[in-house]
Amino acid sequence: MNIILTQSYEESAQKGAEIILSALARKPDMLLGLATGETPLGIYRCLAEACRAGKADFSRARTVNLDEYVGCREQDSYRKFMFDNLFDHINLPRENVTIADHTANPDAETERLRGFFKRNTVDLQLLGIGPNGHIGFNEPDETLESLVHVTPLAKATVEANARWFADGTVPEQAITMGMGDILRARSILIIIKGESKRDVLRGLLESTAVTTRNPATFLHLHPDVTLIAEKSLTV
Ligand code: F6R
Repeated sequence: MNIILTQSYEESAQKGAEIILSALARKPDMLLGLATGETPLGIYRCLAEACRAGKADFSRARTVNLDEYVGCREQDSYRKFMFDNLFDHINLPRENVTIADHTANPDAETERLRGFFKRNTVDLQLLGIGPNGHIGFNEPDETLESLVHVTPLAKATVEANARWFADGTVPEQAITMGMGDILRARSILIIIKGESKRDVLRGLLESTAVTTRNPATFLHLHPDVTLIAEKSLTV
């Protein structure tokens, strides 16, 4: 694992965006795996800025999102989050976006997305991490699912994500890429932001052991992972 420790979240976001932009420059038709939540927002601002400044061209790129809530309202969906925070600000064609449909039958969506990952390989997967070590919505458990699946959200995740919902009610289920889908990406970029991630970050830095009780530890199995975090979270 390649570790980059930074002085601030802004520096983490800048470095993360640089990695994405250089991958895009090398492969303009790349398939970019994307995450939602607070962590990638700074990266998305940098990507939008690069596009505005004519320094990035997403016209041939494709994206796929890690996860989506099942049966949520449009305004709470990750689809809306992605358009508000990134897709409406870059020149990515709408038809090049793949994200689970929060209104669709979850079993049918699972099949559709499993088919997508059979036919496509993610070039660079961007990840955040939950305070409990979840990546995507692969929650700590006795076993982890390798392919796209519908999953109940862990209590810790419901609590951590309640801040995004006006009425505090988080959907109980999500559809997520599985651990195998994530680990089949050619490269992985994980950004760690926030005090609540301190323990999980330290665990990743101090041990290379792998456990289903902390899904992010599976990243130790991948040959090309870059982790970016603020140095202050490691002391
Ligand atoms: C979101 C996702 C989640 C988040 C994680 C951290 O698409 O897959 O794993 O990356 O919950 O969320 P934030 O960044 O809000 O702390």
